[in-house]
Amino acid sequence: MAQIQYLECTKCGAHHSADKPQTVCPEDGGVLYARYDLTALKQDFRSSRLSGRTASMWRYAEVMPEADPVTLGEGFTPMLPSREFANVYIKDEGLNPTGSFKARGLSAAVTMAKAYGLKKLAIPSAGNAASAMAAYAAHAGIEAHIFMPKDVPLANRVECESYGAKVNLINGLISDCARIVAERKKSEGWFDVSTLKEPFRVEGKKTMGYEVVEQLGWRMPQGIIYPTGGGVGLLGMWKAFEEMEQLGWIGPERPKMVCVQSGGCAPIVKAWDEHKKNAEMWANAATVAAGLRVPKPYGDYLILDILQKSGGTAVTATDAEMMSSLRHWSEVEGVFAAPEGAASLTAYCKLLASGFFKPQDTVVLFNTGSGLKYLDVIEAQKKQASKPGRHIGGIIGPY
Ligand SMILES: Cc1ncc(COP(=O)(O)O)c(C=O)c1O
Ligand SMILES: [Zn+2]
Repeated sequence: MAQIQYLECTKCGAHHSADKPQTVCPEDGGVLYARYDLTALKQDFRSSRLSGRTASMWRYAEVMPEADPVTLGEGFTPMLPSREFANVYIKDEGLNPTGSFKARGLSAAVTMAKAYGLKKLAIPSAGNAASAMAAYAAHAGIEAHIFMPKDVPLANRVECESYGAKVNLINGLISDCARIVAERKKSEGWFDVSTLKEPFRVEGKKTMGYEVVEQLGWRMPQGIIYPTGGGVGLLGMWKAFEEMEQLGWIGPERPKMVCVQSGGCAPIVKAWDEHKKNAEMWANAATVAAGLRVPKPYGDYLILDILQKSGGTAVTATDAEMMSSLRHWSEVEGVFAAPEGAASLTAYCKLLASGFFKPQDTVVLFNTGSGLKYLDVIEAQKKQASKPGRHIGGIIGPY
């Protein structure tokens, strides 16, 4: 595994030591990225060395922080060729431990927390990050303090309780949970594992970028569609592409990075449409896609910069469109997606119809979680839709 040379601030470029736990840049609150000596690594870390390695995200050990992994087998998820669209792949993150891609980030963050000897972790979460943190903390023998909205999907609460985490259900959004963690962490002795407020969740999520390219046979797709809440996976994949270029594995080509958000909480789409560099707090955020209910992503400046640099875009999917896509993917592909993941299909259909993507473009749609974690949400949506005068449907189709 790789020795971290330093943690670099994504705002001012300052270097911070990775010898002790760090949060954000003390100067300007910038997100910190782990940096490795890729020039030295390039000498003998060739992509061909990966063949035969373990089918988990830890196969990329040389570019992961040096520590004994806390692992439950996360990563190296299937890249399913779509039955419906030529050149489209579904990256099915629902097969991760705890049923979502959050497993990757929390495996890496808990690995480092354990390496630093931290004993108590706290997380504000929209739901799936909480389950993942609870599982990895249990595996590492570390205390987990969970703060999540009281209306999270049932599975998240039941999982966290089963893993023995201390669960706090909050009458509010993830932003309210984050405020409570920030207020109490000092007196309680918690280390805050909030999205982008420690450097290692990005390191776990970046493995999705390595996997996409490896699973396409070292080919870069033309597009990646990513359901965006805090945006960690998007940032992580972009970081992975930069690292892979420095390792000499790929050239300067990049996919168009596309954010899809819920119509009921779309701060990035709004900022993108208005050509802003930062997002504003989205008022009255409400959506069936719990993971997309992030009213003000901490890394907004990084997400918007990547959309711009990659020639990407940001689009919304309404709740009805997500539910329609969820059902469609189940019936047509045999993939039972989380509503967040199903939003990728809605986005693809919109971008195909608008000509942003051409049918010959290779596009990877991220299904970020399993529908099995949303049984209560899906049932409730079905009941609502069956009321007279209502229908679930949207732009998906005709097929
Ligand atoms: C299933 C699912 N998809 C997408 C997201 C958004 O992820 P990110 O915060 O990395 O943008 C979440 C976050 O909770 C999620 O649970
Ligand atoms: Zn800084």
